[in-house]
Amino acid sequence: MSSRHILTAPAWPYANGPRHIGHVSGFGLPADMFARYQRMAGNRVLMVSGTDEHGTPIQVQADAAGVTARELADRYNRVIAEDLADLDMSYDLFTRTTTRNHYAVTQELFRGLYDNGYLFLRKTMGAISPSTGRTLPDRYIEGTCPICGYESARGDQCDNCGNQLDPADLISPRSKINGETPVFVETEHFFLDLPAFADALGSWLQSKSGLWRPNVLKFSLNLLDDLKPRAVTRDLDWGVPVPLDGWRDRPDKRIYVWFDAVIGYLSASVEWARRSGDPDAWRAWWQSPEAESYYFMGKDNIVFHAEIWPAMLLGYGGKGARDGKPGALGALNLPTDVVASEYLTMEGRKFSSSRSVVIYVRDFLERYDVDALRYYLAVAGPENQDTDFTWSEFIRRNNDELLANWGNLVNRSVSFAARNIGAIPEAGALTEVDRELIQRSHDAFKNVGDHLSRSRFKAAITEAMRTIAEANKYLSEQAPWKLRESDPGRMRTILHVALQLVDDGKTLLTPFLPRSSQKVHAMLGGSGSWSPMPRIEEVTEEGGAPYPVITGDYQDAARWQPQPIRPGTPLQPPSPLFTKLDPKLADEELARLERS
Ligand code: MF3
Ligand code: ZN
Repeated sequence: MSSRHILTAPAWPYANGPRHIGHVSGFGLPADMFARYQRMAGNRVLMVSGTDEHGTPIQVQADAAGVTARELADRYNRVIAEDLADLDMSYDLFTRTTTRNHYAVTQELFRGLYDNGYLFLRKTMGAISPSTGRTLPDRYIEGTCPICGYESARGDQCDNCGNQLDPADLISPRSKINGETPVFVETEHFFLDLPAFADALGSWLQSKSGLWRPNVLKFSLNLLDDLKPRAVTRDLDWGVPVPLDGWRDRPDKRIYVWFDAVIGYLSASVEWARRSGDPDAWRAWWQSPEAESYYFMGKDNIVFHAEIWPAMLLGYGGKGARDGKPGALGALNLPTDVVASEYLTMEGRKFSSSRSVVIYVRDFLERYDVDALRYYLAVAGPENQDTDFTWSEFIRRNNDELLANWGNLVNRSVSFAARNIGAIPEAGALTEVDRELIQRSHDAFKNVGDHLSRSRFKAAITEAMRTIAEANKYLSEQAPWKLRESDPGRMRTILHVALQLVDDGKTLLTPFLPRSSQKVHAMLGGSGSWSPMPRIEEVTEEGGAPYPVITGDYQDAARWQPQPIRPGTPLQPPSPLFTKLDPKLADEELARLERS
């Protein structure tokens, strides 16, 4: 098998609060399942991301909390890194956008685009809050969409029809911060010339037909009908300075947060390479024509990953209508896939930290197993449509599926073998039924792997669980416990086959359930790290303050193939893999939600 270079790029969470399970259902856990599978399949994965720390979301939140943007970002960068590490997210590097490295790479891309003629200056009308005299950012203006009539369109984008908007076009605009009507004054900004990329973006998107999730591709193609130049600077003092003479030292102009955030994938790859001791190592994921890149996010991020970021990459490489030549870093690859999820709702309502309709990752993990959450989001997450999280469904799936199917297979085959034999038994002659079951399990590697490689998580885990259900059925029908006296040889063969299925099941479930798979690995006498876990390290940059990053050594562990179990390996009666949950917990959780 030849080894491919696969960039896994989960979206960058805003450093404005702890993560809730709605957030991580979109950008987080799907990306980790994908990355873990690709590593097991023998590919060279680089998974990089970090906290998104600039712009108005952070500034507004900091104002509300009475701290500086920098203080707020420092606080939540750490909180979020801990949340994501606790979810066993196997980032090669999870960093932040306030590093010197990120500033330098962002300014390099800005310069490259500018030099190729894809950024131009234009006077526009900007919104001001009449009560404070400060710039009112686009996202914080709400009004009626001039295109589709949706009443809660944001100043930058209509979430109903997906069109990009200019806040000055909104009908009856109002401030989301305090409800007042903004006033519009003249200001000057750099614009990215998106129409210059219409042809290049069009043929790139056409080539994705049949490969991307249909909703995502359709949405992205629709965006091409309305390509307008887009401002990439803001009237703000928090962000990356504009790297041009006359602009560099201005305190009131910064690069737009989305422009710098998407560059994070590249700057984090560069930072990872530098930290790994080979500063050019990032190039294998960004410049080799065979390299692949998969971006994971919620659907509100599609426009930035399927239109703006690709346009920036094209322009930096000199590949838009104005041509040009690649910047100093060289030409960069476009995304292979933009894997966008739909929304997770919470007991029928939209997740909202401000309205307390929320389950924070931290609170969740204090009370439940991480793999119970990972299982739930794989099998019942918002992969192709908006999906409701309910506590009763979470508990039902934990008890009736994770525990009753997988936990039960592991528990009864390992404990029966441990008590009656004390080790993995040798198999005698296999029957037709034995052989069929083993064959089914081997085939599952191909099927589940195909689904995972195409980010079809629901289909993948369903297929894995089907194999496990067949193994349970086999065990019940073969009833080795009845053969203890009458046919101990056959009993051992049945147990051998069942334990092989447990081992296969552990491998098939590793991308989804890394922590419990590690336990099963140890139960069957495996040594060492099977599903390596991330760790948080404190790092520094030259001249900068220390900050935490998530990193780890993941490459040479589990392999995506059946491993023959070794007869004679001693077995101990296992402790339960998962916790059974009392259905009454659903009422407790609902009450907690009402109280908060
Ligand atoms: N911070 C953004 C959000 O939470 C996502 C940024 S993704 C990036 O919606 F690519 F721009 F980094
Ligand atoms: Zn609209």
